[in-house]
Amino acid sequence: MSIRQIITVPDETLKKISEPIEKVGVNEKKLINDLFETMYNFNGIGLAAVQVGILKRILVVDVSSKEEKKNPICFVNPIIKKISNKMSVYEEGCLSIPDTFIEIERPKTCEIEYIDINGKIKTQEFDGLLSTCVQHEINHLDGKLIIDHLSKLKKDMIIKKISKLKKNPDRIIV
Ligand code: NI
Repeated sequence: MSIRQIITVPDETLKKISEPIEKVGVNEKKLINDLFETMYNFNGIGLAAVQVGILKRILVVDVSSKEEKKNPICFVNPIIKKISNKMSVYEEGCLSIPDTFIEIERPKTCEIEYIDINGKIKTQEFDGLLSTCVQHEINHLDGKLIIDHLSKLKKDMIIKKISKLKKNPDRIIV
């Protein structure tokens, strides 16, 4: 297992649509393990393969708190089958958009069809934080980011700010 580098805006890869997986083979399992390790390392609750620069429809989540037992779930080729009319709001961040939090309203529950790490097709309903997290990650697979929920002006401001931060050299005192 290894920790991968997470790409951040304005990297154009983040806007691309990820390709479905044909089979969960050795390479896919290795990628899934790396995604979990990378997500835990950076204290995220979800991570999509595109965020480490790989355009495959794979994502991992774990919304358990520090006190709880780990609850890693991997989704391959996830499809949203049903969404509730009832909505919920969370302030969302993203490992690919540093220091940015945006209030986003999404369906409170969703039913997802996906392939698990063992290659089995599953259908499962998710609620609350897990539902929001899975929807956020599925958006990544379709090239959609949380800043796409904002006006163009606000979005451009955030990208500009992050691009500027990236260019800043390391500060040293000698
Ligand atoms: Ni994200």
